[in-house]
This record gives sequence, C-alpha cells and structure tokens, in this order.
Amino acid sequence: MTERLSSGPQRLQKLMAAAGLCSRRQAEALISAGRVTVNGAVAALGDQADPRHDTVLVDGRPLGRHEAFCYLLMHKPVGMVTTLSDPAGRPVVTDLLRDLPVRVYPVGRLDLTTSGLLLLTNDGALANRLAHPSHEVEKTYLVRVRGALTPEAVRRLEQGVDLADGPTAPARVSRVRGSGGHAWFELTIHEGRNRQVRRMCEALGLPVSRLMRIRYAFLTLDGLAPGQYRHLTAAEVARLKQL
Ligand code: URA
Repeated sequence: MTERLSSGPQRLQKLMAAAGLCSRRQAEALISAGRVTVNGAVAALGDQADPRHDTVLVDGRPLGRHEAFCYLLMHKPVGMVTTLSDPAGRPVVTDLLRDLPVRVYPVGRLDLTTSGLLLLTNDGALANRLAHPSHEVEKTYLVRVRGALTPEAVRRLEQGVDLADGPTAPARVSRVRGSGGHAWFELTIHEGRNRQVRRMCEALGLPVSRLMRIRYAFLTLDGLAPGQYRHLTAAEVARLKQL
C-alpha cells in the first residue's frame, strides 16, 4: 500500500512517493534534476502542490496515472552506478532493463565497484520501508580484503567498528578463508550506511579488493549471472512486505 495523503498542498516528494513513483529521496533527485513540473512550471525542491487542483508531471507524465507495481531482483555487475542518472556519463543499472512498461528505482545503493543483489521497484512505499534503518533488513556481503582477517579483526567487526558517523551495530562474520595475501569472508549487517562495509574493513587496516552482496533478507542471487534480473514472485513480495 502507498502512504495516505491528507488533502491540501503537499510537498512534491511526498506526493510522488504516495503515488508509488519512487522514494522521497529519489523524488528529491528528480525535482533537483528539473524533471518535475507543476502546472507547466519546472518545480524546485521545497515546492508544494495540491493533487486536487494542480497538474504534476514527472518527465511529462501525470503523477496520478496508475502504474502496476513492479519488483525486480538484479545481479548488478561491477562498473555500473545505482543512481538514476550519472553526471559523469557512467552506465546506470537501469540501462540493463528491457521492455519494462514502468520506470523502476534501485532500493538503496551499491558502489560502482560493488556487484551483487540489488532490488528495483516503483513501489515507493515498500522501497522506503526496506531502506529505513529501523527495519534492519539483513544484508550479507562476500568480502575480499588485502591482508589477514585475524581473530581480533573478527571480534571488532562483530562488536561494532567506530566510524566517522558513529559506531556500527554488531555484524556477523562467517566462512573466513585466506589465500595469497587475501582473506575472503561473509559479513552480515543490517544497516545501510554509505560505503559501510568498505569503511568497516578499512578501519581495521584491511582494504577491500572485492565486494559482492550475496543476500538481501531471504533473497539470494541464485540462477542470475551479472547483468541479469528477474521479477520477484508474488510470495516474495508478500514476504518483503512483512519484514
Ligand atoms: N558497503 C559498501 O561499502 N559498499 C557497497 O556497495 C555496499 C555496502
């Protein structure tokens, strides 16, 4: 379900999220990029509109037009960005989508050099819920670092690492193995801070040389090669909504 709106003027990002178009943060990016108009005038961040009287268009399409919800699970390859568009002209993950009748948006983000499981949807309400820190969705990463993952490093990851934006919540470390000056392991976290895994490892003196998200809640990459995606099943969507 999308969020309910009270009547009267509302912030544009709230209207856009309530219409299931995207998350509020993504709506702000669309507004800043000049892709939203209100009654024919390009909107600015902070503008409001009344859905009963004003015409709000995103990329020229009416906000109120009903779109079916679409939920995709992608195996993001290295070298693509998860933003809506990239000023530097790098490939964006939505370039990989073919013949979709709706526009979908990544849930959270993965770095340019991170591969792995990425959800995309036009269900702004669910995207907001999943990305919200209070929902603590578990994400597991396969990590390769330069150096050895000592028992002390494991203990620190599991206790929480002090980062510039505060200590991380306790993480889980498993399947530790080493080869040729590198260590491989799986790290499970339930926060979603910017570059969190890389920063946690760097704080322990272990630069990350490969990073792949292999699990998001109960979802895995099974059967998907890099660049491939599939639609979630109705049962998977229902389970995500219950998280
Ligand atoms: N943590 C990171 O450091 N990078 C990602 O892309 C995802 C999690």
